[in-house]
Amino acid sequence: MNEIYNKCLASANYLKSIIDAEDAIGIVLGSGLGELGEEIDNATVIDYKDIPNFPQTTVPGHEGKLIFGYLNGVKVLCMKGRFHFYEGHDMNTIVMYVRVMSLLGIKALILTNAAGGVDRTFKPGTLMLIDDFINFMGENPLTGVNIEEFGTRFPDMTYAIHPEYHDLALQVAKEIGIDLRHGVYMGFKGPSFETPAEIHMAEVLGASAVGMSTVPEFIAARHCGLPAIGISCVTNLAAGITGEALSHEEVQEAADLVKEDFKTLIKAIVAKM
Ligand code: HPA
Repeated sequence: MNEIYNKCLASANYLKSIIDAEDAIGIVLGSGLGELGEEIDNATVIDYKDIPNFPQTTVPGHEGKLIFGYLNGVKVLCMKGRFHFYEGHDMNTIVMYVRVMSLLGIKALILTNAAGGVDRTFKPGTLMLIDDFINFMGENPLTGVNIEEFGTRFPDMTYAIHPEYHDLALQVAKEIGIDLRHGVYMGFKGPSFETPAEIHMAEVLGASAVGMSTVPEFIAARHCGLPAIGISCVTNLAAGITGEALSHEEVQEAADLVKEDFKTLIKAIVAKM
């Protein structure tokens, strides 16, 4: 059996001995958005360090806890802290949790992140549903021998974003009066923020927001047949748009501003999935 598959299976088997995540909604909480984890009822909290083969996070604002429980009565499996390419992890490590969640039998995955706004009508605090993405990270998590246990060699990406859940998210946002914008997310490797010239390029190429995550996870989710959608929290306008220098502190502060709307929106979407 494939070595990566075996590692994922060992993580999944450990988790299965503690929780039953069959049909749960998987949620990944991006930078500064971790508070949703505190609203999970009947929570079982598992440290990444206790899960066999699981990587460790190194980024402030990414705690490293898996939280299983109920969000307004809906079974959820929540990742507080993800893994990034810029931390030096290889792509298989970055997407490992997606594959483990899939082995646990979750129903769907909601990926969230902090992002820089390229669309000039965005403001810090804008929430953006991801319509599609551009992989500008220079790598693909499916590079190497195909892991047949997960999926096919050449998976489709036309429907990498699950169309029904995507439209449902927009509809739910409208119903509850949250201004949810939508657009294309472009993934950069980081960890330096982009240059103004790179943001100009992103704009020309059709991106509405840029960030340093999420793209590998979408690809791995599609590969293993896991329906996924994504929501970006625009924490700043991207480099060169306002002329201000960017910082991670600013990213966390802006995520703080929108966290109530973000939590309300995720809870409402999860309830309808
Ligand atoms: N660029 C890339 N990633 C980000 C940004 C940005 O401007 N803001 C938050 N994450």
